[in-house]
Amino acid sequence: MAQPATTLDATVDNISGRELDAHWMPFTANRAFKADPKIVTGADGMYFRNASGGRVLDGSSGLFTSAAGHCRKEIADAVDRQLRELDYAPSFMRGHPKSFELAKRIAALTPPGINRVFFVNSGSEAVDTAMKICLAYQRARGRGTRTLFVSRERAYHGVNFGGVALSGMQKNREAFGFGLPTVAHMRHTWLAENKFTKGQPEHGAELAEDLERMVALYGADNIAACFVEPIAGSCGVLVPPSGYLERLREICDRHGILLVFDEVICGFGRTGKAFAAQSFGVTPDVMTMAKAITNGAQPMGAVAVRQEVYDTVTESASDGAVEFFHGYTFSAHPAACAASLAALDIYEGEGLFERARAMSARFLDAIFGLADLPVVTDIRGYGLIAGIDFALANRPGLRGNEIQARLFDAGLHVKATGDCAIVAPAFIVEDSHIDEMCSVLRDVLKSY
Ligand SMILES: Cc1ncc(COP(=O)(O)O)c(C=O)c1O
Repeated sequence: MAQPATTLDATVDNISGRELDAHWMPFTANRAFKADPKIVTGADGMYFRNASGGRVLDGSSGLFTSAAGHCRKEIADAVDRQLRELDYAPSFMRGHPKSFELAKRIAALTPPGINRVFFVNSGSEAVDTAMKICLAYQRARGRGTRTLFVSRERAYHGVNFGGVALSGMQKNREAFGFGLPTVAHMRHTWLAENKFTKGQPEHGAELAEDLERMVALYGADNIAACFVEPIAGSCGVLVPPSGYLERLREICDRHGILLVFDEVICGFGRTGKAFAAQSFGVTPDVMTMAKAITNGAQPMGAVAVRQEVYDTVTESASDGAVEFFHGYTFSAHPAACAASLAALDIYEGEGLFERARAMSARFLDAIFGLADLPVVTDIRGYGLIAGIDFALANRPGLRGNEIQARLFDAGLHVKATGDCAIVAPAFIVEDSHIDEMCSVLRDVLKSY
């Protein structure tokens, strides 16, 4: 039978604007993209392959997903085997072995005491699930008035309505009304006096006292939880000031408020330990995770909680009754569990979290070496993640968007948010990749 006219085949020379029309792309300038598409057709290790077969160095591990590098055979094989053995298991009232095994593996990576894991399919679902867990917990322990969430300006907690309400990025909120009314925002932790700080900044621990002010304003009896990203990632890598997370922990403890770390970017080694909670030595009550949980090879997320949170919710229901009315058709999908187990084997077998820690100084030194460029107004970084701010052009986001497109054309993929490039290579990164990354960055940035 004759093949239909080729559309998006691997040559992609054939791409015309019309063939791209049907896909409304997320967080993308669709008209600009379709006029000048940035297509990747393959990947291996540290590199994507572009539409003309050239190599593009992946400077952001995809979207902070592919921590062990791309197209890991062990993960592909595990998913393949799983799909042939058990392609789907109903997630409600039925179980399959790999979800239990995976929950145990994750609980061994999280800080002691955080040992119950609820599976979802993305970071956004993890955040909204965590919000519901916090409300269910407070209600189950007789504190049903605790319905307010405290989060932070410049936070990114995904795109579902709960997460958008928590988020503190104006563009992610402005088109969607007020969303949940029960959120109050602390100030973000970017301070001019901390500019160009490598690692944790010296100034700003006192900003945690904003939570105490929320208690004074709203009453502790009305506050369910405080949500923060340990390192605020998507808004440009705001590393917590020394002492900041510790103070949040103390204030939460004092007032019976749950502390939630959104570790969707930080989790699975990005900060040099399994989770940022361990890197910064502060243990939350609830943690969200996603992205690198499967090395990006399958959609998956999870919420891990202190056992007391799980026990309180489950023990509050009568015998035989569902305790938590929440879950997804694809929670703990067998293929995602298989991918995650294989990814965790790689992380462990190759010592990749330790490797992320070992490569951090080399990586940060190289990125901070771009500080002399006139267009660079600030750089921040920790572990294997750094944010590079660019001087504003005519309107916010214009220059960041242009720079990420030019970098791609020059052979480097970097995730940009507004006027900030977020560089976060896979943990298999070598010195030569860091040099290549910084050389492309310098070449493009020096023209501004
Ligand atoms: C901290 C944080 N939370 C939640 C999310 C949302 O994750 P997803 O895009 O998988 O829904 C992200 C995505 O970047 C994130 O960085």
